[in-house]
Amino acid sequence: MRAILIIVAGLMLPAVTWGAGGGHTYPDDRIEIDWDDKAAMQRGARTFVNYCLSCHSAAYSRFNRVGQDLGIPDEVVRDNLIFTTDMNGDKTKVGALMKTTMTPEYAEQAFGITPPDLSLVARSRGVNWLYNYMRGFYVDESREGLGVNNGVFANVGMPHVLAELQGLQAPQYKTVTDSHGNEQEVIVGFELVKAGSLTQSEYDKTIHDLVAFLDYLAEPYKQTRKNVGTGVIIFLFVFLILAYALKREYWKDVH
Ligand code: HEC
Repeated sequence: MRAILIIVAGLMLPAVTWGAGGGHTYPDDRIEIDWDDKAAMQRGARTFVNYCLSCHSAAYSRFNRVGQDLGIPDEVVRDNLIFTTDMNGDKTKVGALMKTTMTPEYAEQAFGITPPDLSLVARSRGVNWLYNYMRGFYVDESREGLGVNNGVFANVGMPHVLAELQGLQAPQYKTVTDSHGNEQEVIVGFELVKAGSLTQSEYDKTIHDLVAFLDYLAEPYKQTRKNVGTGVIIFLFVFLILAYALKREYWKDVH
């Protein structure tokens, strides 16, 4: 009886935690990451160093390692992905960790919070969340200094750093009644109020590629791991057949 209760409780747990985190978020789209599409990841790396590294680190990765994994030669990494200098004022070396030059003290002052390291964010948040988050900034004049809010991360402390690409969008609301009978205003759409340099589909693609890069960053060995995994399964299967044949051989005189 106790075992059954534990199992039932276990089955309910995801529902409970999901309900607690619940609430409406917008946008709510899904993406597929193609792990063989290195070109997409290269474009994402470019966006990352241009627009994110000024505040966020990816301090578990080195520039040249990223280059190797994504098929970018060291000279190209040096000329196109590194814009920072080290403590002596020399250009950051290709073997250096991808660290932001912003000090935590400065960040604390400017944003009230240190922008988190993004090395593992694709794992902690998931690729769909990231895709929606980077497309979820909308105009909100009540947010002093930032002027924006986010449909996925309410009252986020990050500015809309890609506004020049995406433009600015205003939310469209709808009133819904939740399961407790409370009326609630939720965002159901966005309307572009100021154009950016990209069209919407170009912007979506830019974000897709950026997320592909973050996904790679969070698990650089994923591709290798998949290949090894397949090999191991095949090996175990072959071994199973051999073991079975051996067992029959050993036991054949006993019966
Ligand atoms: C001007 C500084 C700045 C830049 C540039 C910046 N961010 Fe941020 N970002 C922040 C701050 C500050 C936070 C913390 C927000 C909070 O917790 O309220 C944050 C939070 C985040 C989060 C949420 C992390 C989490 O799990 O809570 C993600 C994801 C993120 N940023 C991605 C990016 C990406 C991708 C880029 C580049 C396109 C970028 N950021 C550029 C300041 C910045």
